[in-house]
Amino acid sequence: MPETWWRGAAIYQVYPRSFADGNGDGIGDLAGLRSRLPYLADLGVNAVWLTPWYPSPMADGGYDVADYRDIEPTFGTLEEAEKFIQEAHELDIKVIIDVVPNHSSDQSAWFQEALAAEPGSAARNRFWFRDEPGDWKSIFGGPAWSQVPDGQWYLHLFAPEQPDFNWTNPEVHQEFHDVLRFWFDRGVDGIRIDSAAVLVKDFDGGDPDGYTDQPEVHDVYRGWRRLAEEYDNRIFIGEVWFPDQERFARYLRPDEMHTAFNFDFLACPWDPAALRHSIEETMATHIPLGAPPTWVLSNHDVARVVTRLGREDTSWDHGARRDGVPADLELGYRRSRAAALLAMALPGGVYIYQGEELGLPEVEDIPGELRQDPIWPRSGYTIPGRDGCRVPLPWSGGEPPFGFGTGEPWLPQPEAWNKLTAEAQAQDLGSMLTLYKSALAIRRDRLGDGTLTWLDSAPEVLAFTRESGLTCLVNLGSEPVRLPPHETVLLASGPLEGEELPTDTAVWLA
Ligand code: NOJ
Ligand code: CA
Repeated sequence: MPETWWRGAAIYQVYPRSFADGNGDGIGDLAGLRSRLPYLADLGVNAVWLTPWYPSPMADGGYDVADYRDIEPTFGTLEEAEKFIQEAHELDIKVIIDVVPNHSSDQSAWFQEALAAEPGSAARNRFWFRDEPGDWKSIFGGPAWSQVPDGQWYLHLFAPEQPDFNWTNPEVHQEFHDVLRFWFDRGVDGIRIDSAAVLVKDFDGGDPDGYTDQPEVHDVYRGWRRLAEEYDNRIFIGEVWFPDQERFARYLRPDEMHTAFNFDFLACPWDPAALRHSIEETMATHIPLGAPPTWVLSNHDVARVVTRLGREDTSWDHGARRDGVPADLELGYRRSRAAALLAMALPGGVYIYQGEELGLPEVEDIPGELRQDPIWPRSGYTIPGRDGCRVPLPWSGGEPPFGFGTGEPWLPQPEAWNKLTAEAQAQDLGSMLTLYKSALAIRRDRLGDGTLTWLDSAPEVLAFTRESGLTCLVNLGSEPVRLPPHETVLLASGPLEGEELPTDTAVWLA
């Protein structure tokens, strides 16, 4: 792949616990992932991004890292991880891993050392220990400060098991430089940076949000970029969640991150004016910086796209979540097929969250006692949280565990997933899996990095052409629309009605 592969890549997100289980304990692992690499190659993605694979007590699905230089034993070993990187590379698939710099696990060596040390010690100064708690709230609910036995308090923007690092301490900077080198030396091609905008804290300004986007956070990424430039072709992808596009774009300056997830697009409702606006604004903020846009429909933190697009309110809102709000899944399915063709046609990179290519819906009936997301208990059992999009994948067969492994999956799979297995869909020309495969194949030569030209169209239709001559049309109106003159229909998200594009349908024309 060329040096600039990442600018137009299709990147597949693997949530390792739920991808494939190789040893029958019901939990996904590296053996399972390695055995399914041919599936990913066949699907046609350019890279995989794995959410954290490090040793972790799993208080937050692995985003509570106990050791940044090893592999979680239930997932496998460091040696297997190295083999995985090599095997992926042999299939021309790049590997992106997740680094979590804002917080560690409370079981990390550093935090344990801090607990054993005195107030005011160097060990405590790697985190935020105080004699009195502040009033910030945890993003997962409840207070952001917890008390330790000697009376001091420490900061955790997420769960209490995730103490925040003190990024004014040079030791923390040094540690993460070492961690980056550790993985770059093992051949990883990129790093997804967790909670990238919240590392630096301003406690004194009185701002309840004094941890978001503080100016000094950019110095962290400038240092990381310099380090990455010592290697050939390694990239950073930022998880930067906030609405201000101009401030978001600062993370993409040429000496900072290469790309960042486009959550504005993810949160955008299924509405032509809103989508057009999101796309235009994305292009307008990225292009002058030379940074490629990215297009994201879902990930492991939000409702599955089939369900989201089947609800009355199709936008995403972390605060509202809308768990259990009725969804017309048939409608959501049709729209998510169209949304996939839209996202894959737009200029830049595209992310596919595992199961999106199978059209999986959100699982909304997981029994409370099986739920593992810390949001569930921390919200006083009122917000079910993110487990519904993390249910183990259905691979084959007619009943659970659907080829996920041989043991009982860590979250129960719906019986109705017998129709959604990768095996069943591989044989079905009309399936979501076939649509993704066909789209990715066309995308390889004709789409990806570049720019777009909008075509004149009715307001409820998105219509644009790419440099290759491919035209993408999405009909978000309630009436069918006429196709413009074309040579061939390359791909459509649903059946066309003669020369007309039905509602909630997308088409790629040459
Ligand atoms: C963002 C991750 O995507 C999410 O899963 C996690 O809970 C938080 N960051 C905290 O690390
Ligand atoms: Ca396993």
